[in-house]
Amino acid sequence: MILAAVDDLLFTSKIHAAAKQRGVDVVFARSPEEFLAQARALRPALVIFDLNSQRLQPLSTIAGLKADASLARIRTIGFVSHVQVALIEAARSAGMDEVMARSAFAAKLGDILAKGPAFDVYRIRKDFPILRQKVHGKPLVYLDNGATTQKPQAVIDAMVRGYAEENANIHRGVHLLSERATKAYEDARGTVQRFLNAAESREIVFVRGTTEGINLVAQTYGRQRIQAGDEIVLSAMEHHSNIVPWQILCEETGARLRVIPITDEGELLLEEYEKLLNERTKFVSVVQVSNALGTINPVRQIVEKAHRFGIPVLLDGAQAVSHLNVDVRQLDCDFYVFSGHKLFGPTGIGVLYGKAALLDAMPPYQGGGDMISSVTFEKTHYNVVPYKFEAGTPNIIGAIGLGAAIDYLNSIDRDWMATYECDLLAYGTEALSQVANVQLTGTAKEKAGILAFVMDGVHPHDIGTILDQEGIAIRTGHHCCMPLMQRLGVPATARASLALYNTREEIDALVAGLDKVRQLFS
Ligand SMILES: Cc1ncc(COP(=O)(O)O)c(C=O)c1O
Repeated sequence: MILAAVDDLLFTSKIHAAAKQRGVDVVFARSPEEFLAQARALRPALVIFDLNSQRLQPLSTIAGLKADASLARIRTIGFVSHVQVALIEAARSAGMDEVMARSAFAAKLGDILAKGPAFDVYRIRKDFPILRQKVHGKPLVYLDNGATTQKPQAVIDAMVRGYAEENANIHRGVHLLSERATKAYEDARGTVQRFLNAAESREIVFVRGTTEGINLVAQTYGRQRIQAGDEIVLSAMEHHSNIVPWQILCEETGARLRVIPITDEGELLLEEYEKLLNERTKFVSVVQVSNALGTINPVRQIVEKAHRFGIPVLLDGAQAVSHLNVDVRQLDCDFYVFSGHKLFGPTGIGVLYGKAALLDAMPPYQGGGDMISSVTFEKTHYNVVPYKFEAGTPNIIGAIGLGAAIDYLNSIDRDWMATYECDLLAYGTEALSQVANVQLTGTAKEKAGILAFVMDGVHPHDIGTILDQEGIAIRTGHHCCMPLMQRLGVPATARASLALYNTREEIDALVAGLDKVRQLFS
């Protein structure tokens, strides 16, 4: 949806025609008052201004838009009829994101509109067939994306095509189908490499998911390098899959866990983290985005502080990859793990990124086919990375599906997606904080995708069950973070977790459902 404050007839018809051609909805505002009312009601992905329009008072209208916190993130593009430096500067200082000459705007109109609908949520929703379902006779409101995300048709098609046209085992066959399957699997590795901005594709190991990635590092790197008396630093908001593998290692080696404490809002206490680092610390493993709180941790700083002591860092990116742009080289983390199913891809496939030098030096995780270069009964020579860590037939079609999920995400303007998600989270936070007897858990300044809460006098499971009757899927319980629940002093919370296809109307449905819960229990 695009909102245009343009009253020049020629441009109005040009925008109309270009929008129609691209299937983009466009609405024209005829007055400043109408413009702001439409912006509030329609939440457009983009607004276009004719800066020379007298009637639409562009400068004060933009200032009005930018002054409203809920509208300020909407992208604004203005055009001017000739180079009018003072007007351009005034538009910029009123908060306009981009100002273009009229001729350049006309030439780029197609591109501008193509970018706009790239974040039209209603269009995005059409890509996800499951979202058309009804549950208990009500339209499905899927707010359990932290547990797993839905899959776009492009992923489903890629997997069906994989089985229908390319299915064969990989790496070992000389026949055409095997070559095709091998290429598709290795292409998916390349797609993941570019997605994470890893330096080399051999730094991408396909695993079953985040859980297996962490276990792999604990059982290889950990067993090789961690000894009695050593310390492993985690945070108080870790998922069990980033606690238990390290605990197992501690039981095996005599090492011990140290835990970075958090504030009541759900933010890591960085000064306490620094105090935990010393010559005994041999590993740091922390979550980038908490699944139970939504907190975005300052992982770049965490890595940097650990590296000062020469300590490697693993980042659990399970909840981060679907919301944030991740650049492992910029983060400089040593390991990064995520699950395909939380990134709009299939279950049973995930990624362990590791710096090549570390992976090279690590012993294998499991033994079997494909992870060897030669075997005799006396001695086995292992394959090079990443194959050394991919024993047995891997999840070939899963990897292809994951590659398709990343391709799908790459077809969307990620900056716009982030802006949209940020706005949706702010809307949800505001809406939930207005519901009587509801308290949000996790109110960190930097958050992504999670609205966790408790309601006075109502167990989260009851909230979840009643909402289910309304067609609303949320998660309730300890979210595999029992130590965090203990820290928060609650046995469980209710959690609505958002993805790029969720809407404000779905948040409104959640709020209406919670009102029902409250009435039932009052
Ligand atoms: C932060 C975090 N880490 C790890 C995991 C485990 O992911 P998986 O079950 O896909 O291995 C999850 C799953 O919810 C998670 O949210």
